[in-house]
Amino acid sequence: MAIPHEVIEEIKYKNDIETTISQYVNLKRRGKNLVGLCPFHSEKTPSFTIYPENGSFYCFGCGVGGDVITFTGLIENLDYVESVKLLAEKSGITLPQDGYDDSMQRLRNRIYDINRESAKFFHNYLMSEDGKWALQYLTGRGLTLKTIKQFGLGAAPDSWDALIKHLKDKGFTINEMITANVIGKSQRGSYYDRFRKRVMFPIINIRGNVVGFSGRAMPGDDKAGGKYVNTSDTPVYKKSENLFGINYAKNNCSEQIILVEGNMDVISLHQAGFTNAVAPLGTAFTPEQVNLIARYTKEIVLMLDSDAAGQKAIARATQLLEKSGLNIRVVVIPNGKDPDEFIKNNGPDRFKALLTGAVSDIEYKLLMAADGLLLDTDDGRLKYLNKAAQILSSTNDSMTRDIYIGRLCEKYSVSRTALTEKVNEYRRQNKNKAEKKEINDILRPKYTKDDINPERRLSVKGVAAEEMVLSVLLQHPDFIANAYEALPIDKMITDLNRRVYKCLIESYENGGAVDISVFAQSFSVGEVGYLVTLQNNDKAGNNAKTVLNDCIKVILEEYKRLNSSSPKEQTVENWASQLQEIIKNKQKGNGKNG
Ligand code: UTP
Ligand code: MN
Repeated sequence: MAIPHEVIEEIKYKNDIETTISQYVNLKRRGKNLVGLCPFHSEKTPSFTIYPENGSFYCFGCGVGGDVITFTGLIENLDYVESVKLLAEKSGITLPQDGYDDSMQRLRNRIYDINRESAKFFHNYLMSEDGKWALQYLTGRGLTLKTIKQFGLGAAPDSWDALIKHLKDKGFTINEMITANVIGKSQRGSYYDRFRKRVMFPIINIRGNVVGFSGRAMPGDDKAGGKYVNTSDTPVYKKSENLFGINYAKNNCSEQIILVEGNMDVISLHQAGFTNAVAPLGTAFTPEQVNLIARYTKEIVLMLDSDAAGQKAIARATQLLEKSGLNIRVVVIPNGKDPDEFIKNNGPDRFKALLTGAVSDIEYKLLMAADGLLLDTDDGRLKYLNKAAQILSSTNDSMTRDIYIGRLCEKYSVSRTALTEKVNEYRRQNKNKAEKKEINDILRPKYTKDDINPERRLSVKGVAAEEMVLSVLLQHPDFIANAYEALPIDKMITDLNRRVYKCLIESYENGGAVDISVFAQSFSVGEVGYLVTLQNNDKAGNNAKTVLNDCIKVILEEYKRLNSSSPKEQTVENWASQLQEIIKNKQKGNGKNG
């Protein structure tokens, strides 16, 4: 238990869940609860529910849930401890110096230290006599020393253990290095530097911490194994939630952010004075990255390759961006060059002109739709106008639709009514599709009950009883002591419910309040969401005590049945795995004979 329960209580008391969430979500009262559109998945009918009574929320659409701290963490992209800090700050609570600095936080700090130390090591090597090959490469690509220093670029020596030795000297353990993902472990059990003979780009988050690395192989290095080696996700780094260059761009993007494909593009643009460029880190553009951008600017300029892959990426990105409220513009770089090459060959002024000529996403799509169509034939024009109507149907802004409809009618001499009717027809279709999709989404939540508790199939009856027990205990903590006597922890059938039950009993015995916050620190948002549904399930009503005892009986019976080895009572799954075992043994036997 990391943060003292009194602190959590005070934070929750001063940051009332209703007030806090209503800063982000439009809420409507429904009975004693409140509902709104879920900020964590897209929906048109509200399934995001707040239970002010016990300070919890749950989304019936996507399955996330928790308390005001979980909510803040999800929406602000913070971990639990960080959101505790944020809410404490907001409400003028001073956190105790120790007590909340738990082992996870300490580990994170160690990883930050390793990353900073490694970045220094790579940079010093780059600047040393031995690192000349890498420095020559970077300056050869047009980077100045000033830029190299600003981005903290470096190089990894051609060695299997140079970094390991260096970090050992600095007092870091092998385990810490593994967790930071700067070293790897071979199948034979030896450790090795993950980055070797590569130019190193440190990845820096919005708080200025080095969170990971991207290492580029030298051109023509056939033995390198991959052009880039990147840090995998670690306790301080999730590549889907970061952007290369965001640490600088966030201070220079009041007008717009430019999204490019590669790290080198970002660096070249910054050097040329376009300090608002960022790139995704070797992943497809993600919703988390959209949120990050939307926090800092109002317009995004997509500057991706004009090849087929780039176009696909643009289509995907515009779809993701649709709900962000960001203004979207697209630049197509002539001749399929990347921004880095373009600016090197044409200079910043031409680049600036390119940027000024950025078209809206609709205009871009309308341009692209003409690809491969013969617009000087009636058939080609018809096909084009159909595609165009489909594209225009995707915007909800009637003025935008009107303008483009006007332009198209003039250009292709069709009547305004005909094209408008076509657009409206597609709009009706889209609406139906969206509604169907939403219903499907709600029916198939992100965290399904089976995902949350994969052992459900062991005994549907037993799990239902477990859930009822937990539901009653969450609402009546005064029954916990009696329940514990009748039902020992290890008799819970499924691992998840056993963990929940154990946590309930422990926090009860420690004298803390028993509520959702007890779980928010050590269970996932999906799991906590599941617990919120249990806590707010009032099926037991006035018979809670009887229901509790009956359900405990069921669990004990089911436990016994599942743990007896009588073949009659064998479950299908058990039998299947035994069968597999038999077959495997048989095959082994055959192998020996043959
Ligand atoms: P590019 O191949 O376009 O690289 O990949 P680049 O950044 O333009 O590099 P140069 O100009 O050839 O030196 C674009 C981005 O995709 C990711 C990297 O983040 C890269 O910057 N990537 C690419 C990988 O993560 N792994 C790869 O193998 C290739
Ligand atoms: Mn490039």
